[in-house]
This record gives sequence, structure tokens and C-alpha cells, in this order.
Amino acid sequence: MTRREIEHINHEVLKKQNDIIQRIKQNNENEYHKTGRIKYARVITYGCQQNNSDSEKLKGMLKLMGYNQTEDNEEADVILFNTCCVRENAELKLYGNIGALKNLKKKKPDLIIGVCGCMMQQKHAVEMIKEKYRHVDLIFGTHNIYRFPEIFEKALHEKYTLIDILDTEGFIVENLPVERDEKHKAWVTIMYGCNNFCSYCIVPYVRGRERSRNPEDIIKEIKNLVQDGCREVTLLGQNVNSYGKDLKIEFDFADLLYKINSIDGIERIRFMTSHPKDLSNKLIKVMSECSKICEHLHLPFQAGSNKILKLMNRVYTKEEYLEKVKRIKEAIPGIALTTDIIVGFPGETTEDFEDTLDIVRKVRFDQAFTFIYSKREGTPAAEMMDIISEEEKQYNFNRLIEVQNKISREINESYKDNIYEVLVDGPSKTNKNILTGRTRTGKVVNFKGDANIGDLVNVKIKEVHTWSLNGEVVMSNQS
Ligand code: SAH
Ligand code: SF4
Ligand code: F3S
Repeated sequence: MTRREIEHINHEVLKKQNDIIQRIKQNNENEYHKTGRIKYARVITYGCQQNNSDSEKLKGMLKLMGYNQTEDNEEADVILFNTCCVRENAELKLYGNIGALKNLKKKKPDLIIGVCGCMMQQKHAVEMIKEKYRHVDLIFGTHNIYRFPEIFEKALHEKYTLIDILDTEGFIVENLPVERDEKHKAWVTIMYGCNNFCSYCIVPYVRGRERSRNPEDIIKEIKNLVQDGCREVTLLGQNVNSYGKDLKIEFDFADLLYKINSIDGIERIRFMTSHPKDLSNKLIKVMSECSKICEHLHLPFQAGSNKILKLMNRVYTKEEYLEKVKRIKEAIPGIALTTDIIVGFPGETTEDFEDTLDIVRKVRFDQAFTFIYSKREGTPAAEMMDIISEEEKQYNFNRLIEVQNKISREINESYKDNIYEVLVDGPSKTNKNILTGRTRTGKVVNFKGDANIGDLVNVKIKEVHTWSLNGEVVMSNQS
């Protein structure tokens, strides 16, 4: 299909959905005139930024339909769960939370309860909800969010659970309404899906194959965000380093970064996630050349042992990973590195695990997101033999956290008495008299001073903790 043909279909899709949005809005307005009651919706999001970004679209569409946002189930007319299935505990939490709404639905039969997102792309999860949680009104997946108004309208008139799941991804629908949680910074999805099939991971099965957005659409979105007051963008994809491989033009992730770096008004650029196998020298070069790209890289290594990396289908060795880290550190002094690590992959012995600790000690990550392996039905790892006990996994996991926390704390110590540029996120959640924000390296800073959300201020670090820094504004950059 040519770009013009895609734009035409995109336009038709949006027009149809928009007509439905207007219809629902009109109904809600008519009801308001009769009853004087405003309608509310609650969207509950599990999982990663990909889901957050989808939820912002769902909230955008609900807002246009006349639903205000609420955090209170009792007040809500619509409750949507946007689900994650990357690990088992995410699934269990969801079942608990849906079960808890049974009584509310009895009390308020008009309440619409919906479940969507990654978990719903798995047949067994849909069956479970259909059978055991009959108070759920609608179920849809990750590939048809753009059709939410149509699915929702049907559910409003349907007595039984409405199920609408697409097994495969279609083309990307642009220009959906969005209700962003924050104005000064934004998540921008640059690609959908994943082609890597790491052997433990469910994401490629529930998010489909890699699809890159057109650079023009991304640039246009970011320019519009700037008009709206946005100063920081985080570019999202399961593996941003393979951005562009499916485009008809020669244009890769580094090219995209150069373009975004030249947009006036954007002050900071972040991105995640980077797969080590695709992290190119060209990308390291663009990171060191572009002043707006923050000195932070999230580079999951998952496991240290070459045997386990092979079983995980990660396509790099421990030595190659360490070599890339060395190059990055040389090219971008002071860069903060973060990572994801899995403990207890099938076949991982304590000896293998020592290699994981070795990488942690050698690289000295600022932060690590650590997970105990969770078996996902349908992935190749689910068929692999598990040889060590749960106790041993837990023991190794605790050792890992101990080693990493000490390193995080030591790195934070090096921030003490120095001055850093902080993008102000607003008052701290725990103490309204204190502001919070982040350094370019992604550190959370709580500080005293006078500044507005979205300001860039200079903060002197006075005190450090493992997860955050405390400081005081010394001189305002801009306001
Ligand atoms: N695309 C990203 C993020 C994937 S999900 C990436 O490749 O890094 C986020 C993290 O969840 C992964 O990095 C991995 O560490 C963890 N994860 C994925 N599947 C898992 C499983 N079955 N058990 C435990 N952790 C898992
Ligand atoms: Fe999962 Fe691997 Fe894809 Fe990340 S790169 S989403 S871990 S399959
Ligand atoms: Fe979870 Fe889906 Fe993200 S499975 S981690 S919400 S892509």
C-alpha cells in the first residue's frame, strides 16, 4: 500500500470511530440534562510504558465521549483494566481486582467493566474471564484499540460479555485522541511489537511483529507536543534499535534521533528499550553528538552466563555485552546505565548465576530491574527443564539485590555536593512542600526551591539515598 492509500484508510477509520464517539457523547449529554449527573471513567493500567501509552489513548477517547477521569471505583460508570501478562503475578493481581468488583456491579448494574491489553491476546485468559468473571462486559486486545468506540458502543447495548480480539496486527492507526497524564513530558511510541522471541518472553505473541511508525508522523506528533508545553520525550518500543527495519525507506533509529534532536522546544530525549545485539556504533555516535539525548541508557542483559544467554535466545555473549558497555562508557562519560535481569531461568545453576553477579559488579549499573523467572505458557522456555529449587532462586535473587543496592548507593554518593540540571515534575507525592524531578541521568531528585512543573532548574545535591537524591535549587536556568 502507498502512504496515500494508508492515509486514506486511516482517515476513514478515524471518521467512523469519531461518529460513534459523537453519538455516545450526545447520549451522555442528554442523560445529564435529565439527571444532572456527570459520567466518570477509570482506566487502570498494568505493565510497561507501552500499556501506559495505550491507556492514554483510551482515556482520550473516553474523554471525548463525555467521561471524566476518576480514581474512585464507586464513582465510575466505566472501569477499564489494561492488562499485562509478562509475569504470572501481573495476571494474578488482575483476577483479584476484577473479582473485587462483583458486588459493585450488583449494586450498579449499569457500570461497564472492560478488560483489554496484552493478557487478553491469550485465549486461556479470555476463557477464564468469560467463565469465572461474568460481570465483565467487554474484552478486547492490543491490536484493536483504535476501534474502542465501536466495541464500547456495542457493549453498552449487549447483555453478555462482548469479546473483540484480533489475532494479528494490522497497520498503524495514526492521530487517535490522547489524554496525556503529564504535559511537560510525554511517551511517544515509535514502533509496535517485537521480533526477537527471547525464549522466556510472551511479548512477541501478544504484541505482534515489529511495525515502525513513519518518521513524518513521529516528528509531527512531537512538534504538536511542544506546542502543548512538552519539553521531554521518551521514545518507546520493545527494541528501539531495530526501528526502521520494516520501513520502505532507508531510515534507522539513529537517523530518527538526529531529526528529533533538531526540533526546537524539546530539551530532553530519552528512549527505551535497547536490545544489546542491535546497539550499533552509529547509535553510540548519535548519543554522544546530540546535546538533547540524555546520558542514560537502559540496556537489559537478562543473564550473565553464555549458556543461559543462548538458551534465552538473546544472541549475544557476556563478553560482547561487556565490550559494548565499555564503548558506551568511553563515548559518553558519566552515562547512567540501567538494566533488566532475570534470576532462575530454567537450567541456570548457581555457577551460572555468578556470571550475572560478575556483570553487575563490572558494569556498575545505576539501577537494575530484577525478576525471578516466571513460566509463560506458549514460550519455548516453558518446555525447558528447571533444575534448581525455588529456595535457591530466591537466595540468589536476594544476593543480587544486595549487591546492586550497594552499587546504586555508591554511585549516588558521587552526586553529593555537585550541581545537576533537573526537570521539575511537580510537588512530591509524600510531601507537598518539596518538589521532585529528574536529572538527565534519570535520578529522582527531591528538592527545596521555587519552580514550576516543566522548569529546568539547577539543584545542588545535599543528601543521597539508594533510590533518590535530596537537594536545593541553586540557580534557575529557565522558567
Ligand atoms: N522489550 C524489553 C522489555 C520486555 S519486558 C526488553 O527486551 O528489555 C521487561 C522485562 O521483563 C524483560 O526485560 C525481562 O527482564 C522481564 N521478563 C520478561 N519475561 C519474563 C519472564 N517470563 N519471567 C521473568 N521476567 C521476565
Ligand atoms: Fe521480550 Fe525479548 Fe522482545 Fe524484549 S526483546 S519484548 S524481552 S522478546
Ligand atoms: Fe506487559 Fe504487555 Fe508491556 S505483556 S510488559 S504490558 S508489552
